[in-house]
Amino acid sequence: MQSSMLEQFKKDVMEGLSAKPKRLPSKYFYDQRGDELFVQIMHLPEYYLTRAEHEIFREQTENIIQELGISPEKHFELIELGAGDGTKTKELLAKLTANGFSYDYLPIDISQNALNGLKDSLAIELPDVCCRPKQGDYFEVLESLKNGKHQKIVLFLGSNIGNLSDERAADFMNELGKTLNPDDILFLGVDIIKDESIVLPAYNDSAGVTRAFNLNLLERINRELDANFNIENFEHAPEYTVESGVAKSFLKSLENQSVYIRSIDREFHFEKGEKIHTEVSRKYNDEIIEKITENAPLEISSKLSDSNNYFTDYILRISNHF
Ligand SMILES: C[S@@+](CC[C@H](N)C(=O)[O-])C[C@H]1O[C@@H](n2cnc3c(N)ncnc32)[C@H](O)[C@@H]1O
Repeated sequence: MQSSMLEQFKKDVMEGLSAKPKRLPSKYFYDQRGDELFVQIMHLPEYYLTRAEHEIFREQTENIIQELGISPEKHFELIELGAGDGTKTKELLAKLTANGFSYDYLPIDISQNALNGLKDSLAIELPDVCCRPKQGDYFEVLESLKNGKHQKIVLFLGSNIGNLSDERAADFMNELGKTLNPDDILFLGVDIIKDESIVLPAYNDSAGVTRAFNLNLLERINRELDANFNIENFEHAPEYTVESGVAKSFLKSLENQSVYIRSIDREFHFEKGEKIHTEVSRKYNDEIIEKITENAPLEISSKLSDSNNYFTDYILRISNHF
């Protein structure tokens, strides 16, 4: 990890575990082990999100291209925020390349490991794609997007936006909207509000992979910040109700215990039953998308959904009212 990121990690852990209630930012899930576990999560029978969005990318690729309104004559930049392993995006890249579109692909991810894997796999599977990865936090990379001279199509898939509170998502939409030019496009993939019986198992699979993914956050703190979390003393505890439309993941302390983090020289106490909030996964509908974009120069131009209506990809364009 770069030293500036390590300092930020220490600061975020210090702040999060000192807060009441305790919390840890979900972006720290993604070290090498976290990336591997997330790839396994995407293949779990309970994790419908990836399958549903992949279906849209596989079955409606021509539709996506048509709705984007792009043509092979005009070069564009395809920027992907939090690209991960890019499996779904590759369906689109393959079609664009086969149809002679001229574009650069700019995946942005906080995980250098994920970007390396993506670039290597593209070199084999789609060697004609010009891939220019950028490592960093997408909130910080936004600013550097401003100056490109080509049309920008920004992909934000996998309901990654759902990791933000509505307030932060609205700020993000506003910031993103301000970096875009009038013919730029935001392609936003979100999970749709649906029943507990479908959503909750996606965060609590029977094979225990999501549990391992959540607990890896404490193991990462042990590894990188020299802490002594006893993983056996914490339990993965997801929650979701259809009324709230928000899935949350927690790590629950199974006993009264103290944990020492050497690199910040701090001890933290956990009561039995006390929870660390580690992730928010907000679910959406049209009204919520309209609400988080109401103060941003973005408006819904069209949308594509999978055959179960579990997942929707919204196409947002710069609105004229701003
Ligand atoms: C849930 S995965 C989804 C990957 C991909 N978008 C998909 O739909 O399959 C989230 C990805 O976003 C990256 N990520 C999470 N928070 C980030 C942040 N603040 N800035 C940049 N990348 C981030 C992670 O490293 C991970 O690769």
